[in-house]
Amino acid sequence: MKAVIFLGPPGAGKGTQAKKLSEEKGLQHISTGDMLRAAVSEGSELGEKVAGIMERGELVSDDLMIEIIKERTAKPDCERGYILDGFPRTVPQAEAIKKLLSDVKSEIVYFSLAEEEIKNRLETRRKEENRADDELQTQLERLKVYQEKTAPLIDYYRKSGDLIEVSAEGSVEEVYQRLESALAS
Ligand code: AP5
Repeated sequence: MKAVIFLGPPGAGKGTQAKKLSEEKGLQHISTGDMLRAAVSEGSELGEKVAGIMERGELVSDDLMIEIIKERTAKPDCERGYILDGFPRTVPQAEAIKKLLSDVKSEIVYFSLAEEEIKNRLETRRKEENRADDELQTQLERLKVYQEKTAPLIDYYRKSGDLIEVSAEGSVEEVYQRLESALAS
């Protein structure tokens, strides 16, 4: 059993790399963003709760996200291991996952990317996929929220010596090669 945690700004390519790593290594890809978007499109109770928050580019509450992750990682398809893409995003979420993974071998990867390229990638995706939270105003809010709430996790993990830093510059394949060589087999 192994867990890989992906950290990084919106649009850095976490989801893209997680899909690839999941296919290559047989680890379950858990994207909190995808789970929440699915709930919104289904119109479930959870979807109704989070739709407005996501559209504004804000974060869903820690209590709710921690509950969602506890439930999801307890499912049988996670037995071999999983990639967390989009969780944790705050210090309380990081503390919760630390407890959950206390007996599990885990690796934490931070994808770094210059702000100009982040904006380019989000803009390309907005045109291709029309994701509501890729609208310019929401992009800016998401980047602000990332800096305030999630970027502090980089130092949080750096201090414990647990952070693997991977540059997200370059092609998808180039980033994947860097990721693969940075991870223990
Ligand atoms: P979420 O979906 O997790 O958004 P995010 O972290 O902002 O990440 P993105 O999906 O925007 O980017 P990504 O890094 O995965 O990049 P991607 O691979 O798509 O969360 C959405 C919302 O849900 C949050 O704002 C919040 O409201 C809520 N939420 C989720 N988790 C939460 C939590 N734990 N707590 C509270 N709230 C939570 O790539 C981006 C684009 O670039 C794509 O078009 C891709 O094709 C392209 N691309 C990828 N790699 C490359 C490359 N190397 N070169 C060129 N283009 C590339």
